[in-house]
Amino acid sequence: MNKTNDKVLVAYFSAEGHTAKIAKDLAQVTGADLFEIQPAEPYTAADINWKNPMARCNREQFAKKEVVLAGTVGNFGEYKVVFLGFPVWYFAAPKIIEAFVKAHDWTGKRVMLFATSGGSDIAKAAEKLKPLLNGKGEIDAAKRFFIRTEPEALAEWAGPLIMPWKAKSQEREPGRPDMMDVVEEYRDQFNRIRTMDEDFTAKKP
Ligand SMILES: Cc1cc2nc3c(=O)[nH]c(=O)nc-3n(C[C@H](O)[C@H](O)[C@H](O)COP(=O)(O)O)c2cc1C
Repeated sequence: MNKTNDKVLVAYFSAEGHTAKIAKDLAQVTGADLFEIQPAEPYTAADINWKNPMARCNREQFAKKEVVLAGTVGNFGEYKVVFLGFPVWYFAAPKIIEAFVKAHDWTGKRVMLFATSGGSDIAKAAEKLKPLLNGKGEIDAAKRFFIRTEPEALAEWAGPLIMPWKAKSQEREPGRPDMMDVVEEYRDQFNRIRTMDEDFTAKKP
């Protein structure tokens, strides 16, 4: 396999920092590159106050206003696997994620969606994003995480998703630790974290 096409990218949008934390930990445990998806005009607190009908977030959502991106991933073609993260907005992915998807060529990519939310799951986001990939990329996984998710739990989720492909395309250097060894080491902790999941309480819109 072409080595330049072996890389993993974590691309994320986060307005309030929760998804950013998950994205950074995910990039760390997977050894992926990290890209922050940002609007050309940053969101202020007033912009995302969905309780105000005139807030920018509501105007973008309901007036079908396009969100202009601050930038795109120049070397996008080098990535085989893309983890795409966002907060759930209006039960789906924010418009900026749609803009990001439209702005890149997903040919041959494996796409893993992840999100944080106040309660909604990620299913509708995945359903709505799928057609935007134009049959070129595949959504292999989609998961909402609680905002206090530990890095080890992220490794447990991401490891098996990228390992089957990595195993085929890359040989690990003898003596270098395998991420799955780390996963094994923390298995008890993962189980404990999983049972804690439902404790999560967050403000619902
Ligand atoms: C404009 C807006 C719309 C939202 N819509 C939803 C929603 O439909 N369902 C939900 O569970 N949470 C919703 N939320 C809450 C966010 O998904 C949640 O707070 C998330 O963790 C924020 O992530 P961030 O800190 O990365 O921006 C919304 C928040 C905003 C600002």
